[in-house]
Amino acid sequence: MANGIESVLVETRVFPPPAALAAKANIAGMDAYRALCTEAERDFTGFWARLAREQLQWTRPFEQVLDESQAPFYKWFADGELNVSANCLDANLQNGRADKTAIIFEADDGTVSRVTYRELHARVCRFANALAAAGYQAGERVIIYLPMSIEAVVAMQACARLGLTHSVVFGGFSAKSLHERLLDTQAVLAITADAQMRGGRRIPLKPALDDALAMGGCEAVRQVVVYRRAGEDVAWTEGRDTWWSEFEQGQPETHQAQGFNAEHPLFILYTSGSTGKPKGVQHGSGGYLLWAKLTMQWTFDLKDEDIFWCTADVGWITGHTYIAYGPLAAGATQIIFEGVPTYPDAGRFWRMIQSHKATVFYTAPTAIRSLIKSSEADAKVHPASFDLSSLRIIGSVGEPINPEAWMWYHKNVGGERCPVVDTWWQTETGGHMLTPLPGATATKPGSCAFPLPGIMAAVVDETGNEVERGQGGLLVIKRPWPAMIRNVWGDPERFKKSYFPPELGGTIYLAGDGAQRDADDYFWIMGRIDDVLNVSGHRLGTMEVESVLVAHELVAEAAVIGRPDDVTGEAVVAFVVLKQSVPGDEEAAQVAKTLRDWVSKEIGPIAKPKEIRFGENLPKTRSGKIMRRLLRTVAQGQEVTQDTSTLENPAILQQLGKAL
Ligand code: PRX
Repeated sequence: MANGIESVLVETRVFPPPAALAAKANIAGMDAYRALCTEAERDFTGFWARLAREQLQWTRPFEQVLDESQAPFYKWFADGELNVSANCLDANLQNGRADKTAIIFEADDGTVSRVTYRELHARVCRFANALAAAGYQAGERVIIYLPMSIEAVVAMQACARLGLTHSVVFGGFSAKSLHERLLDTQAVLAITADAQMRGGRRIPLKPALDDALAMGGCEAVRQVVVYRRAGEDVAWTEGRDTWWSEFEQGQPETHQAQGFNAEHPLFILYTSGSTGKPKGVQHGSGGYLLWAKLTMQWTFDLKDEDIFWCTADVGWITGHTYIAYGPLAAGATQIIFEGVPTYPDAGRFWRMIQSHKATVFYTAPTAIRSLIKSSEADAKVHPASFDLSSLRIIGSVGEPINPEAWMWYHKNVGGERCPVVDTWWQTETGGHMLTPLPGATATKPGSCAFPLPGIMAAVVDETGNEVERGQGGLLVIKRPWPAMIRNVWGDPERFKKSYFPPELGGTIYLAGDGAQRDADDYFWIMGRIDDVLNVSGHRLGTMEVESVLVAHELVAEAAVIGRPDDVTGEAVVAFVVLKQSVPGDEEAAQVAKTLRDWVSKEIGPIAKPKEIRFGENLPKTRSGKIMRRLLRTVAQGQEVTQDTSTLENPAILQQLGKAL
């Protein structure tokens, strides 16, 4: 298993939930938590049916709760119908939140704009009417390639309203990545912006989409709708391209939403797996929305007065569930931020918490770690220089948070009074799975504590038997849950193979993470068990980067591994065999730059190897298998103590051990 599942964490500090918070919490105390778990265990479908009826508005009530007849293609509430967008918007107009602020948007340059639920509803209706007028129909796919903006939420919600399945592509992905997603989804429409503003810079977006469309095979795309964000000059294809403002001009601000089947695909979101091609994770509607809303109430203890801020980008699952859907379904006021945490300085997050009086703050360990560094270097950007007293809950997501970063976050951001919710989940799970509850769980730094009620998580061995406490194993979810992945878009075989392996019986969800439980039953995530890296909280397949490297004309062979990194969690290190001989130092630096730029162009800057090392060969077994385990040791500058007797070419380790 990757990343040393054997490295047992020893963490003895325990932080009980603050009494005042616990007294008023949506799940108040461990007894309340256990009561929900017991309810789910005693009557699994009854539990979920109750919540789905209480939480969502159904245009056609469901009778059937869980259909397991085609397992692992589980269906939830499958004879019910609802409209996801109406549940996020119209529902709040009906329940007295029409004039409540839905979104506080802070632009890169600090400009703030706000929309109420009534205004957001009007904007979504107008855009949905424009989409309908242009002939787009339920079930068709739409690529969204937009910066962090109110418009991104409007586009996603408008798609949901019409039953159009969206696929949001993170603005940092390249034309090539966009092209793959355009082809795989057979999208009929693409929505983009001229450029995005980040850290005071304009970063063009539309040109990447233009390039992607020019790569061919995208004939299904009928239109490109362009939101003018930066006032940038853009190339224009007459007849295909249309400005957002013109597209929706004259459209009414009301729209009667129609119900769609609970299983209707709400979105497809691509994520890296252990093979070369990213997987299109397909999510449904009813079950997904139920969980997005419930976890807002449970994990974040959401109250009407809260100002919620999730710093993720809408291009990732966190931005889908905890920006575009969950907060709106729960009627929250949320902050959406366009920029980066280090501009104009590394105090930006804290300044924004102070000025908007954020009460719940949700970010990634990478951001925390980099801000620790900055605030150590400059007291002016240290959280202590800001008033963060509005905060009551702080959360972490996307990668393991090391106990030191946890303690710093708890002390300096949470003022030692805010519970830290370390939420473990995945693109595939749709929402939180393992997490402390702020008003119930005593937290341990670095542990994501317990499964949420109804989530049947376990740690098992390779044959599916539960391992003893204190032992490492595979993290699995033994029973389906409403927000789970429904399919890999267009590839049901890959869905089954990736997540429901026959060795575990074919119906149990294999998360792909190693985990262990301690003597108090707390879960500790030990990192991926497959060839997936986590760089700054972004998932990246080693094979994905390798296949891009070998596609370069200079490269004969490549192996990519992850190396622990203080800031980004893991860093990409590539070992490369060139077609020509091993380059000298100067040339090597040049070729490394060429290859790094190439990876950036082919996938996106997040995939750029931090380091590239060249060798005549790669360490392989006699059967030709690359020994990545050894490469990991070498990349960390450690001495190889593992058995190298099965190596075809042990001398190669010395050559690869040299950093540039
Ligand atoms: O390895 C786990 C890690 O991120 C993976 C999921 O990545 P992605 O689908 O991009 O979703 C990220 C946002 C939910 C997991 O398989 N991961 C996520 N959260 C945690 C985590 N590892 C440790 N602790 C977490 N809280």
